[in-house]
Amino acid sequence: MAILMDGKALAAETRKDISRRVAELDYQPSLAVIIVGNNPASRFYVNNKKKDCAECGIKSIEYALSEDTKESELLELIARLNADDELDGILVQLPLPKGIDEKAVIAAISPQKDVDAFHAENVGHIMLGDAALLPCTPAGVMRLLERYGIDPAGKECVVIGRSNIVGKPQAMLLLHRNATVTICHSRTRDLPEVTRRADIIVCAVGKVDFLRADMVRRGAVVIDVGMNTRADGSLTGDVDFAAVEPIASYITPAPGGVGPMTRVMLLENTLTAAKMRRKS
Ligand code: GUN
Repeated sequence: MAILMDGKALAAETRKDISRRVAELDYQPSLAVIIVGNNPASRFYVNNKKKDCAECGIKSIEYALSEDTKESELLELIARLNADDELDGILVQLPLPKGIDEKAVIAAISPQKDVDAFHAENVGHIMLGDAALLPCTPAGVMRLLERYGIDPAGKECVVIGRSNIVGKPQAMLLLHRNATVTICHSRTRDLPEVTRRADIIVCAVGKVDFLRADMVRRGAVVIDVGMNTRADGSLTGDVDFAAVEPIASYITPAPGGVGPMTRVMLLENTLTAAKMRRKS
């Protein structure tokens, strides 16, 4: 029987803490959320972000642009928001419609307002280990580990997935906490052989029941970053939870584990960006 790592509860607690810190300021931190097109998942995520901001006293301003928006129009909006001294954070919800170069859009966001920490300058700071703004999902995972007293130092950590948003920065954050880190991906030769060595597994693949019981060493910590939809419409992570939970020492549920922590780290980053910019 594993201990469940309750991201929902920790996120609620963290939102309370953020609300308290926001209330102490003599200004209101603000976040611009840009959504382009009609992707239903993006709409759902953006609505959640706005709701979270409202709960914590952060002002959110939505810019909903049509599916046929030109890249140049989006870049103009970002330039305007970069120059707005009253605005602390800018988030462009991904993915963007075809024809818009995501790389160019991310590069256009002022690194000081880049609350996703996707800009190359912030990615560089993540590599160096001196980042002020951390990517939300990996930072949320680190908070969960910390809360449950799991110190990565000296541990074998296996990150499955090598995305710029999760896998790569997650590996860096674990490395900075003195873990021995292996990044696995679709070309890894014998994945179960690697994952069976792990003290901590972070699975960020995007496939239902990807991490099976035979891939997990007894007593391992299992962090499920996945969020997938089953045929019946229900949400689930990447881990075969029923089979892995009895073997693991700690495990995140999905939903209710990493997802809520990702959401709350955006609020942390917005507050950090505000304080840095306004030097308070
Ligand atoms: N789309 C899916 N995840 C994310 C995220 O963390 N940030 C942004 N901006 N878009 C996303």
